[in-house]
Amino acid sequence: MLETLAKALKNYRSGYSLPRDLYHDPKIFEEEIRAIFMKSWLYVGHQSQIPERGDYFLFEMGGESVIIVRSAEGQINALVNVCRHRGSQICAAATGHETRLTCRYHGWTYNLDGALIAASRMPEGFDKSRHGLHRLHVKMLAGMIFINFDQDPVPFETMERDLAEPLAPYRLDHAKVANKQNYAIASNWKLAVENYNECYHCLPAHPEYSVAHGRAVPPADWGASMEEVRARAPKIGLTQHVVNHSWLDAPALGVEAQFDRYPLFRGYKTGSRDGELVAPFLGAITGVDGGTTDLHMGPTTFGLAYVDHVVLYRFTPRSMYKTDCDITWLVNETAVEGKDYDLAKLTWLWDVTTIADKRIIEHNQLGVNLVYYRPGPLSLMESFHQRFLDWYVERMRQATNGG
Ligand code: FES
Ligand SMILES: [Fe+2]
Repeated sequence: MLETLAKALKNYRSGYSLPRDLYHDPKIFEEEIRAIFMKSWLYVGHQSQIPERGDYFLFEMGGESVIIVRSAEGQINALVNVCRHRGSQICAAATGHETRLTCRYHGWTYNLDGALIAASRMPEGFDKSRHGLHRLHVKMLAGMIFINFDQDPVPFETMERDLAEPLAPYRLDHAKVANKQNYAIASNWKLAVENYNECYHCLPAHPEYSVAHGRAVPPADWGASMEEVRARAPKIGLTQHVVNHSWLDAPALGVEAQFDRYPLFRGYKTGSRDGELVAPFLGAITGVDGGTTDLHMGPTTFGLAYVDHVVLYRFTPRSMYKTDCDITWLVNETAVEGKDYDLAKLTWLWDVTTIADKRIIEHNQLGVNLVYYRPGPLSLMESFHQRFLDWYVERMRQATNGG
């Protein structure tokens, strides 16, 4: 194992933030990509982003690039974006539509399943069937597309078992992407995920969120409101499931899953500026229960499921000090923009909140850059954050010990 990594993992104390090297060593970053991100199920997008055969979008993580494309048969493929000739990238545009995938360098051409169908002037005996694009495993859950870089991945079924039933009433396979926004954060990925996993900062940083969301205060301050939410849920078509297989409570690395409800205060019906609904009810939902749902799917995709829309939050490491935060707003597929929902109203809360988070996280990075940074003690409001750090350290220990 890398010496700096081994030392930093050994120096970690649960209940404290991470040792400095874990935010700075590019070799450790590479190890994290290999040990965590290339072994986990990663949410890459929603099926509604590629409705037609030949529609594609790119998913970029670390230095990797994957083409997520709908094939001629209508299934969704994940093809590694590297030509099997001399390694040029094939697709350059972030989204597009192609009937076949042609490398611009020397013209090798692949079909939408990744099979090589044309390569001119190759010597006798060249076998096209051995030079298709590398394919990655793809799984669907409620219209959401997950991929895994590992050729022998951890079974997706545990995440599916955890989340399929509680998500069923939302009918996300009958939802559509109303908006997608990228917030590029100038920080190490762990600082971005750490920030998402604690609400100690919510009261000072997010007045727009804290006015209504129970997560901004300890559960002891919720009073009876959670019981009321739980009691109302079946009456509006939701289930009473609680799933807590996040972090080390997941059966394995890469299938982390959470479905956890909490109350909205002050009569708020959803996550909006004035508390009023911002889109038609999702799926089989017929009313308001005064709650919302925290989601966790794989290591670095989170979300909130309201009765009228779902907000998905994906954190993707791009380089040591660069992390993509991609937010996707899902609404009922029949909802019409401008008639059934107003995009500015729909996206307002999580846009202002994420702009504030980006600022906080980037300041956090600037601070941990200082040689005087030392791991500091966590508060009582940072227990989920602590679970993330414990998970990170344990999974890195296991991975680097060959586990
Ligand atoms: S590198 Fe793609 S055809 Fe040569
Ligand atoms: Fe935040």
